[in-house]
Amino acid sequence: MNVAVTAASGGLGQAILKYLVEEIGADNVIAVARSPDKVGTPGIEVRSGDYQSVQEMTGAFSGIDTVVIISAPVGDWDRISMHRNVIEAARQAGVRKLLFTSVIGNGKEEDTWFWKTQQVNRQAESDMRESGLEWVVARNGLYLEKDLTHIVHAKGVGVYRNIVGDGRCGYISVDELAYATAKLAIDDHANGQVFNLVGEPLTQAGLVELANQIFGMDVRYEVISDEENITELMKDPKIAARGEKVAKMLTGCFQAVRTGAFDVESDFERAAGRAVKPTLQMIREQQAIMTA
Ligand SMILES: NC(=O)c1ccc[n+]([C@@H]2O[C@H](COP(=O)([O-])OP(=O)(O)OC[C@H]3O[C@@H](n4cnc5c(N)ncnc54)[C@H](OP(=O)(O)O)[C@@H]3O)[C@@H](O)[C@H]2O)c1
Repeated sequence: MNVAVTAASGGLGQAILKYLVEEIGADNVIAVARSPDKVGTPGIEVRSGDYQSVQEMTGAFSGIDTVVIISAPVGDWDRISMHRNVIEAARQAGVRKLLFTSVIGNGKEEDTWFWKTQQVNRQAESDMRESGLEWVVARNGLYLEKDLTHIVHAKGVGVYRNIVGDGRCGYISVDELAYATAKLAIDDHANGQVFNLVGEPLTQAGLVELANQIFGMDVRYEVISDEENITELMKDPKIAARGEKVAKMLTGCFQAVRTGAFDVESDFERAAGRAVKPTLQMIREQQAIMTA
C-alpha cells in the first residue's frame, strides 16, 4: 500500500508525511506539491501537482492507492473547483481511497461569516462521497498554534482580545492532527466515516489561562466587538495584504466558536487509537518549538 499527500509543502502536509513514513516507510509515501522544492521530508518521492490542473494531478497520482487531499487555502480562487479537480484526477488515475482534511462544525455556524468557507469544505466532502472511491473525512479542529501565537504576542499589552466570550472550542496542534490523519489514511476500518479531530473543549479564558501557566505570563482575556476584531486583524500586515475579506472570514471563524459551532464531540481516539494529548501538553510542546 502507498499513500500520496497533496499540498505537501504546507505545514499540515509535511507533518502528515512524517507520520506516514513512520507507519509505512519512506518507499510507500509520495509527496504531491505545487512547489516540489519546498517539500523537506527526506527519502520520499516528490511529484508536481497543482490543484488547478486535473492533467498534472492525474499524472501525479499514477500508481497511487490512497490520496490525502489537504483542503485548499482560502483566497481569491475557486476552491470548490480545485477540490473537484483533485477528486477527478484521483478517479482518472485509478486511486482506491481518498481522505479529505475538512473542518469541524455542527451547523450552528450557519449565521456567521464563516458559513461560505465552511460550505466549500462540506461540498468537497460530498463530492468525495459521490466519487465512487473509498473515502474518509478528517474534520480538523482549529490549530492551537495560531491562537497560541497571538496570546503569547499579547504578553506585551497584558490582554488578549477577541469576540468569542464563553464559546468553547477544541483546539488541537497540527502535529496531533497529522498523527490521526496518517492513521486514518492507512486504516481501512475508518472508510466511509467522518471524524472530528479536536482536543478538549476550552473557552478563550481557559486557553489563555493554560498559556499563562506554560509561558509564565499574566495575560487576561477580554471580549471585543466584531468590528473591533476586524480592525485588530487588519493591523497584521500579512492579513492586510490578503484584504478585509480574509479578516472577515477569520472573524467569522471566531463567530462560529462564539455560537458553539466548534464545540463538538472528539473522535480523535477512535481515529488515532490513542487519546488526544491534553492541551497543556500540546502548549508545552509548542513552547519548546517557539523557544528553540
Ligand atoms: N484547522 C485550522 O485551524 C486551519 C487553519 C488554517 C488553514 N486550514 C486549512 O488547512 C489547510 C492546510 O493547512 P496548512 O497549515 O498546511 O497550510 P499552509 O502551511 O499555508 O500550506 C498551504 C499549502 O497549500 C498549497 N497550495 C496552495 N495553492 C495550491 C494549488 N493551487 N495547488 C496545490 N497546492 C496549493 C501550498 O503550496 P505552495 O507551497 O506551493 O504555496 C501549501 O503547500 C489550509 O489550506 C486550509 O484549508 C485550517
